[in-house]
Amino acid sequence: QVYNDYFFYEPAFNTHDGGYVPLEVSDVAPQKLRVPELLKPDRETDTDMYYTVIAQAGETNILPGKPTKTWGYNQSLLGKTILFKRGKNIHVTVKNELPELTTYHWHGLSVSGDIDGGCHTPVYPGESKVLNFKCDQPAATLWLHAHPCPSTAEQVWHGLATAVVVKDEHEAILPLPRNYGVDDIPVILQDRRFHEDNQWDYHADYDPDGVQGPTAMINGTINPYFDVTTQKLRLRLLDGANRREWRLHFSDDLKFTQIAGDGSLLTHPVQFTHLMLTCAERAEIVVDFSGYKPGDDVILYSDDVPIMHFRIHEFEKDDSKLPDTLFTMDTPAVTKNTPVHHIVMSGMDEEVAIDDKKFNMERIDAKQEMGSCEIWEVTNTNDCEGGMVHPYHMHGCFFEVLDRDGKKPYPNETGLKDTIGINPNETVRLKVWFDHPGIFMYHCHIIEHEDGGMMAQIQVDDPKHPQKFHLMDMDTL
Ligand code: C2O
Ligand code: CU
Repeated sequence: QVYNDYFFYEPAFNTHDGGYVPLEVSDVAPQKLRVPELLKPDRETDTDMYYTVIAQAGETNILPGKPTKTWGYNQSLLGKTILFKRGKNIHVTVKNELPELTTYHWHGLSVSGDIDGGCHTPVYPGESKVLNFKCDQPAATLWLHAHPCPSTAEQVWHGLATAVVVKDEHEAILPLPRNYGVDDIPVILQDRRFHEDNQWDYHADYDPDGVQGPTAMINGTINPYFDVTTQKLRLRLLDGANRREWRLHFSDDLKFTQIAGDGSLLTHPVQFTHLMLTCAERAEIVVDFSGYKPGDDVILYSDDVPIMHFRIHEFEKDDSKLPDTLFTMDTPAVTKNTPVHHIVMSGMDEEVAIDDKKFNMERIDAKQEMGSCEIWEVTNTNDCEGGMVHPYHMHGCFFEVLDRDGKKPYPNETGLKDTIGINPNETVRLKVWFDHPGIFMYHCHIIEHEDGGMMAQIQVDDPKHPQKFHLMDMDTL
């Protein structure tokens, strides 16, 4: 079966927003897609990996003419891809060379609250901090982005976002492309508006429902092409935009196979011709170019705007077949007694809230014990007409999607997720458990909604090791 549906409610697509900024076809000459290098560990042993991640400001040649002032991790824009191997002890020195405080949020990493990098763990300009944790989670595409409250959106817009890849032994034996940079690449989907002298101006473009720009930027490249030299290509798609949804499809309605979602492989590969990603969601897809010959150009579109080209070169035949089962979910069982936690996402613009409240760093909104499982029922009370899809994200955990309004989740919502688009007037039920203690945020991942207060926080206690958590407030930041 090949799905050719975006699944989300069409009336809630961002194209209907009052402030919608349509993508425009770029008139710059095609540029080779920037494929971020893998970040070199400072040191790696059989058991440990050591990295240094530096948030820095710089300039990047994105368009012909003047360079754009940008921020990035270990480079001037976005960052190098950070690889964690499951089972290893990881030590990351995070350093802040920016003129303002930032945090290092590991979106999708299964770690305790003090490592997670939410707003209670600032790193001040000129300072650094060492994060030590064990990587123990399935292979997946995660990401690192800034998360200081309330300037997450602006810092991400400046460029503080990069791909993080977790590898494990299970994924390593599947017949999947994994030659990084050749047939396995991150694809970070963002959009920007370029002002005079090729500069970004977050404040000029500000919109409380999410900042957008008319120019698609992929891995920091405008109008990119990628040279395809293998029959199969694995794209680790990440919606790294502040607000934009991507509705992706290829020329010729070329079908592709989704193999992974946010936090793991999907239980089964699923074939699509169309795929919608909401902010912060990831999808790993494998595209098979067997029907093309050298010289062909395969185009990736979002809605009907071409955003990237795949230039086909000679490649060897690849008959590898994926198994029907990619991943087995091993999640806590739900019983009649499993507690249900209901939360409501409401509003648009400045009115956004969770449970009718704006985010407050000094208020704990929920508690759950580490290791215990609860059902979270999350409702988006926006109107079906004129409302929007809010991408709901939780730190510190993965969830399993149980249902949408009592109906089956979308076919690619198997496996572990940490972000889910919720349609107006819809309730999704999630099975949620935490493996680590700490204070964790949950929020809408339209980043201006998050900064605008559509965020709350949960305290997760380890019953065996009770601890006191330190909450920052806006004034002590
Ligand atoms: Cu991707 Cu709270 O963030
Ligand atoms: Cu929202």
